[in-house]
Amino acid sequence: MSPSSSSSSLSVPAAAHTDALPTSSTDPGLALRRLLAEPDRWRPRLDHDLGPHAGAGPVRVLLEETADVELWLLRWAPGQGNGWHSHGDSHGAFVPVLGTLTEWVAGSTDPVRPPRIQGQRLVETGHVRTFGIPHVHHVINASPEPAVSLHAYGPALTEITRYAVVGDLLDVVEDRRLGVTR
Ligand SMILES: [Fe+2]
Repeated sequence: MSPSSSSSSLSVPAAAHTDALPTSSTDPGLALRRLLAEPDRWRPRLDHDLGPHAGAGPVRVLLEETADVELWLLRWAPGQGNGWHSHGDSHGAFVPVLGTLTEWVAGSTDPVRPPRIQGQRLVETGHVRTFGIPHVHHVINASPEPAVSLHAYGPALTEITRYAVVGDLLDVVEDRRLGVTR
């Protein structure tokens, strides 16, 4: 089924703004583009109640998981963010399929120095945002409307590091080996 043939009101982007197509089976960008092109794999997991709900972070729905890649659907109420974090040895990619998300990024040219907040970008519906290692970011739905996004990590996440903001720098507050919960 093509994305445009669905009866749902949720529009699926016909074409994503992407870099060159990767080829590795563990590449989350490739996995995400395939997922995006096959809405039957994620559309049934949409919750039509996209209004505000309890909890500071987005609702996370695990779609598929192998050792090579894991795929998630996240639902974001207005104002919800997932906090500053990085992803261990996993590359990642995400794409809003409803609404827009704002990604704040931080980095450092010196690995012994703490990451410094560098700025933000708007990630619009259908724009596949890919990132490598290391990548420290904070994603937030800064819009007044709900948002839904698809996320891929390859290889599957085994570690998440979380940070607190100290001025324009980030301090590690948690370095967690993962089971399934993010
Ligand atoms: Fe992330």
